[in-house]
Amino acid sequence: MHPRTQRVTLPVLVITALALLVAACTSQPEVEEASFDTDLPADAFHVTDFEGEFPDHFEDYLRNVRVDDYVSKLTVDVEPDLPILWSNLAFSKSYNYPRGHTYGLEDVLATPRIGDASIGSCMTCKSTAVPTLLDEFGDDYWSASFNEDLRPRVLELAEEGQDDRLGEFGHMGIGCSDCHDPQTMDLRITRPSLVNAMERRGFDIMEEATHNDMRSLVCAQCHVEYYFDADSKKVVFPWDRGLRPEDMWEYKQEDAIDAGFEADWVHGISGAPMLKAQHPEYELWSYGTHGEAGVSCADCHMPYQRIDGRKMSSHFWGSPLEDVDQSCRSCHADRTAGQLTERVRDTQERHLEAMEETQERSVRAHYYINRLITAGADEDVIEEARELVRKGQWFWDIIAAENSDGFHNPHGSMDAMRTSSDASNDAIRIATRELVRLGVDIDELDEMIEQTRQEVWDEPDPDQKADVAVNDFFPFQG
Ligand code: HEC
Ligand code: HEC
Ligand code: HEC
Ligand code: HEC
Repeated sequence: MHPRTQRVTLPVLVITALALLVAACTSQPEVEEASFDTDLPADAFHVTDFEGEFPDHFEDYLRNVRVDDYVSKLTVDVEPDLPILWSNLAFSKSYNYPRGHTYGLEDVLATPRIGDASIGSCMTCKSTAVPTLLDEFGDDYWSASFNEDLRPRVLELAEEGQDDRLGEFGHMGIGCSDCHDPQTMDLRITRPSLVNAMERRGFDIMEEATHNDMRSLVCAQCHVEYYFDADSKKVVFPWDRGLRPEDMWEYKQEDAIDAGFEADWVHGISGAPMLKAQHPEYELWSYGTHGEAGVSCADCHMPYQRIDGRKMSSHFWGSPLEDVDQSCRSCHADRTAGQLTERVRDTQERHLEAMEETQERSVRAHYYINRLITAGADEDVIEEARELVRKGQWFWDIIAAENSDGFHNPHGSMDAMRTSSDASNDAIRIATRELVRLGVDIDELDEMIEQTRQEVWDEPDPDQKADVAVNDFFPFQG
């Protein structure tokens, strides 16, 4: 390893001086960028390629290998209504807490959500082999068959660089080359979807991103909301109108529909065309307190630590609460670790309570629409209610998919959940009016909803719950 230069140029010094002024109130640690000159080939992508040059980082990275089994989120103690809310979507059958970066490839190769219709795009945030696959397949990568084209090639590429310490596929999960140029170790972006999305927002990452920006942008390659373009099947980030849930909603309702993308799936209970949101950690963070203050993902998730007296960034990605002293107290030295943890847990608790309520509203709205259908309601009313249930669900799903349980942006999360409840309540109101007009017994409907919901909660096998969400009273509408 040959540390080359500390790039301290004049503008950086000026910025550092300003940062120090701000530091008086924010005490944000400064971050220097180190550059290296390795002997690695420019296209190195097996994590094990990096061990020789960076033994400490490799060793630290091994901490991500934790024997943690899958933990389902479909259970009563987590988000019990999800099997109803995702009826007719593969997620309703399998939805687990995320695992460590070393499991990215292993998990995508194993998940029952991948089927013969799955495409190359599904690989995009799971493996260091993606830039190589993009080179080999060109633009066909995105729409290639996951099972027939990509899987065999990935297994071939995985034959090299294996290491027992990393498990079967840990040498090619989310690894060094996803975030670093193998020759200089400069932070870099390897996923074109992020570069394109930022470009459409008038921001040229290569030219304009500061070093501090890069400490979050490397994560924004994957920890973001996305969808597949209708024609090219490319991974697209719906950010043209902004990064807030309401901006992405407008984008999906207008730009995406204009371009031929209407829905991710049709709901099995309401028959509504639905949107599925994915983990928008970057988006929520970007307008939360820390994002606005310039506190990067790496500040909390990769804090500096000392190994044998040498200072290095942690390369274990998990809960910052496992090491509050390093992750938080570098800035919040005036609080104890216990106080900070309590503050986070308190925020999360309130968040999860609000989430349960807003999801319950959505559940009710789906079943009310189901009853509209079976009661032979006016098609216009059904359509109007479907539009509202779609909106209600988007605004909680984008927040539920965010993995910090509200911490990254408590206020933004609450705002979105309020919008969600309003939309679901509107759907219920419209449906109720029509059902009353048709002489439907609303009390019986409410009882059947509670009963069905209870059956879903009581079903012990998470993967069977979705089947219990429909029955003779609420027939499948997918
Ligand atoms: C998910 C992104 C990501 C992955 C994967 C990753 N790193 Fe890093 N790495 C970072 C970030 C962010 C920094 C902080 C860089 C900075 O601020 O200059 C960093 C810093 C470094 C540094 C500079 C010294 C230091 O500790 O701050 C080295 C060397 C390094 N990483 C090596 C590795 C190696 C080797 C691997 C694979 C075993 C790896 N990294 C995997 C994001 C990543
Ligand atoms: C190439 C894509 C990619 C990049 C880049 C990436 N991640 Fe991840 N990250 C993932 C995936 C995929 C998972 C879930 C893996 C699984 O469950 O198999 C994950 C999981 C995590 C987890 C949960 C780990 C656990 O044990 O629960 C954290 C925390 C995390 N990432 C933080 C970060 C941070 C911070 C960065 C940037 C420094 C980053 N990630 C960059 C794809 C990525
Ligand atoms: C101010 C500190 C802070 C910043 C900045 C921050 N996070 Fe977090 N992050 C947290 C905390 C605290 C949690 C909740 C951990 C818990 O519940 O135990 C969390 C949770 C997560 C999780 C879920 C972890 C898990 O085990 O399931 C992911 C993924 C994640 N953050 C990614 C990111 C990304 C990506 C960024 C930047 C866009 C970011 N975080 C910025 C503090 C931070
Ligand atoms: C790099 C510096 C930095 C790090 C690291 C950091 N914070 Fe902060 N934090 C800030 C700044 C700046 C603010 C906003 C100004 C203020 O209110 O002090 C803030 C505000 C907060 C707030 C009040 C605002 C809100 O969103 O509720 C809490 C709580 C908080 N931080 C908790 C944490 C926790 C927990 C961690 C570790 C997981 C952490 N912070 C890590 C700099 C940091």
